[in-house]
Amino acid sequence: MRFIGCKTLLLDKIKEVIDENVHDASTFCDIFSGTSVVSRYFKQWYEITSNDILYFSYILQRATVENDAIPSFSNLKPLGIIDPVQYLNEMNISEMEILEQEKRFFQNTYAPKGGRMYVNDENALRIDYARNTVENWHELNLINDDEYYYLVACIVEGIPFVSNISGTYGAFHKEWERRSYKKFELFRLDVLTNGKNNRSFNEDGVELLKRIAGDILYIDPPYNGRQYLPNYHVLETAAKYDFPEVRGITAQRPYENNKSDFCLKGKVIEAFSNLMENADYEHIILSYSTDGLMSVKDIEAIMKKYGIAQTFKIYEIPHRRYKSRTQGEKDELKELLVYVRKAKE
Ligand SMILES: C[S@@+](CC[C@H](N)C(=O)[O-])C[C@H]1O[C@@H](n2cnc3c(N)ncnc32)[C@H](O)[C@@H]1O
Repeated sequence: MRFIGCKTLLLDKIKEVIDENVHDASTFCDIFSGTSVVSRYFKQWYEITSNDILYFSYILQRATVENDAIPSFSNLKPLGIIDPVQYLNEMNISEMEILEQEKRFFQNTYAPKGGRMYVNDENALRIDYARNTVENWHELNLINDDEYYYLVACIVEGIPFVSNISGTYGAFHKEWERRSYKKFELFRLDVLTNGKNNRSFNEDGVELLKRIAGDILYIDPPYNGRQYLPNYHVLETAAKYDFPEVRGITAQRPYENNKSDFCLKGKVIEAFSNLMENADYEHIILSYSTDGLMSVKDIEAIMKKYGIAQTFKIYEIPHRRYKSRTQGEKDELKELLVYVRKAKE
């Protein structure tokens, strides 16, 4: 999934930092999990704990990290449904028209029928139909929690493929982009089996770290003032399907309770200090950027304060060049991986 700060391209670098510094570890915590690609990758070696304040991120984690295999959907078989992903994807749109108007939140909110153009009317109905069906199956105990989260995650993961946006849901295009003509389908997610007690959470990472402990902690916080929820509100609503009261032409859902201190200049230092202090993990790896709200000096001071100062290391990964508007010359932005060892409590 396209997601601001997604670390798909950095997985091998994170692995290199671990290989260089960590020689004996069995658990890995991905405290700001986002798309959950980092957790999914490291699941092949470690017992994973994953977390994010976004609920749709939690759904993706719960489906692919805490679930340790693709569920069997055995209670759907008597209904003749062997593979619910295929069942929903192959259903004819005319069969979906039986869905009552008041249950069509996507069509009534994000599609032309609701005055917006995030998805077309037909795809909106496909999403509404799939989402209502999965909710009904769960209420009727035709699917268990593992199966429920798996199917909701497949729905959420499928939406960006047909969304009429340029990357985030901060706004939609005024004309239909090519992508929006494609038919919406649930995206069949892979689930790796590692046979371990993997767990997923949906809460403030700083608070969660007061209750958990382990070997490796990977910290990938937002690094600038851009809050995540307003940029992904449509996926959050697809995951929750909670019929929120949306506002304005972009149909934002309320998010006052979901603001991250890591996006606030006045709060980020304290938040990161608290996180480092709470972290009961021996090996700590931070992802950050040289143009983040915290300076490299801030990061170094905090990680050395709570970690073993001599073990502190910074790995710089050039990631893009840009022209500085003020100086008219080229500066280099760098992606950082920062390591420190912490004496476990
Ligand atoms: C840079 S992204 C993580 C990207 C992720 N590593 C990936 O590869 O997809 C930062 C994430 O931190 C989450 N976040 C921000 N503040 C948080 C907090 N206080 N507790 C938990 N998650 C938080 C955001 O919702 C966002 O998903």
